Amino acid sequence: MKELESKIKEAKSLEELDRVRVEIFGKKGVLSKEFAKLKEIANDKKKEFAKELNLKKEALFSLFEKKKEELENYELQKRLKAEAVDLSLYSYETPKGALHPITITMNKIIDYFTALNFSVERGPLVEDDFHNFEALNLPKNHPAREMQDTFFFKDAKVLRTHTSPVQIRTMLKNSPPIRMIAPGAVFRKDFDLTHTPMFHQVEGLVVEKGDVVSFTHLKSILTEFLHYMFGDVDVRFRPSFFPFTEPSAEVDISCIFCDGKGCRVCSHTGWLEVLGSGIVDPNVFEAVGYKDVSGYAFGLGVERFAMLLHKVPDLRSMFEGDIRLLEQFR
Ligand code: PHE
Repeated sequence: MKELESKIKEAKSLEELDRVRVEIFGKKGVLSKEFAKLKEIANDKKKEFAKELNLKKEALFSLFEKKKEELENYELQKRLKAEAVDLSLYSYETPKGALHPITITMNKIIDYFTALNFSVERGPLVEDDFHNFEALNLPKNHPAREMQDTFFFKDAKVLRTHTSPVQIRTMLKNSPPIRMIAPGAVFRKDFDLTHTPMFHQVEGLVVEKGDVVSFTHLKSILTEFLHYMFGDVDVRFRPSFFPFTEPSAEVDISCIFCDGKGCRVCSHTGWLEVLGSGIVDPNVFEAVGYKDVSGYAFGLGVERFAMLLHKVPDLRSMFEGDIRLLEQFR
């Protein structure tokens, strides 16, 4: 008994203790052999023998449990010591990126229209004359082409001056009804406080079979959209002209800087122009071979939305890559 006790007490690791456990408590262990002796013991002494053996077993077992806990604790401490982290060590803050304000604004616009089941379409940045002008009711020598100071390539291709050519591409690829938006970069020969040679637009187009689309649809969806973007603003539709829509309207919101009272940003008019829109001109449908349909379209400048939403005074700062501007959008 003493010998077994000291075997337990002297175990130096959990592994060693486990070997001792098998030796004492295992199927072929010391105790099993002792219990086996019961068979050979006279009946009147059996009870006494078993009782004593059980007591021995219990004593050994509790000793074993105690030792096990001790060793576990010891090994845990050893491991914690080995894996200790020195919290006094100097470390660096992980740099965090931010989305560009144009991307943030674009995503917000896309979220709105995809929730209304509009598809998101893309087109090439280098366009041909047909998609950028001709099919949009801007025939060669049409004075309206002047409105868009175009970058031309030698082979009569152009850097697209608006996202409207994606309307044409989408209509040629699909049959009506159509509900689409086309976000992307566009290019014009412009460079000042409010114009950069590259900027972004989101185009919208809805086409239905039959004569069902009216200006009311256009008006309600754009009014809702502008409330979603700018909150509680007044919205007004002002007659205008685009070759690919008839009638056409430019859409203004009450100035978000002065609440419509008049300030420098709104040139003291109280209004900010934010959208071009209109009922799709029949000539456009003819160019893509659509018959008996009706629709409306709209287009907006993403930079302008971003500048208004985030109160950025100079458009050019959007493209200078100044980390101090971008960090504000984390
Ligand atoms: N393409 C026009 C522009 O670039 C915007 C527009 C799109 C107007 C669709 C009406 C309808 O100014």
